[in-house]
Amino acid sequence: MDFPAIIPPLARRGRLAVTERELTTWGEALGRAAHPPLLLTLAGDLGSGKTTLARAICRGYGVADQVTSPTFALVHEYSSPRSPVLHVDLYRLRGEEDLTNLGWDELVSAHALVLVEWPERAGTRLPADHAPITLQHIPDDPDRRLLYAGGHMSSASIERQ
Ligand SMILES: Nc1ncnc2c1ncn2[C@@H]1O[C@H](COP(=O)(O)OP(=O)(O)OP(=O)(O)O)[C@@H](O)[C@H]1O
Ligand SMILES: [Mg+2]
Repeated sequence: MDFPAIIPPLARRGRLAVTERELTTWGEALGRAAHPPLLLTLAGDLGSGKTTLARAICRGYGVADQVTSPTFALVHEYSSPRSPVLHVDLYRLRGEEDLTNLGWDELVSAHALVLVEWPERAGTRLPADHAPITLQHIPDDPDRRLLYAGGHMSSASIERQ
């Protein structure tokens, strides 16, 4: 690789406890390094920092608009010089029908940067070909979150890279 690894080597097997500022700095770098088409999933409990991270990734990717949580609209679209950005939040999804109404299949195969919060709600309709990120609260440390990136992919393919 002739570019710096965006995922710190240790994070492939371990985990990082990051402050909001560290998460934002990392997210901006990830956004700068992202090339479409790319589907990034942002998993984690309520308030774990998914939207905070999405905002940073968008900033790094060149989105000039203010990025707000798409909890009610389910999807917000932004433009950047590189490609459109689709920011999806499936928290309020009621079922498969909502996915269909959302144009999910077109959305995840668009030539875009696609960021999906609550990806597990898509069930089997989540394409296997995505880069997973998970954030987790840390008991007794309200200022940090555990960040898992890439290394928790269930597929063995990452080991073969
Ligand atoms: N280390 C940290 N990383 C990210 N957010 C943090 C951190 N420490 C504190 N916070 C705070 O946690 C909150 C995270 O909110 P955010 O909306 O990003 O979470 P979310 O995962 O998108 O929630 P939701 O499930 O409701 O969509 C913010 O208020 C942020 O300031
Ligand atoms: Mg959110």
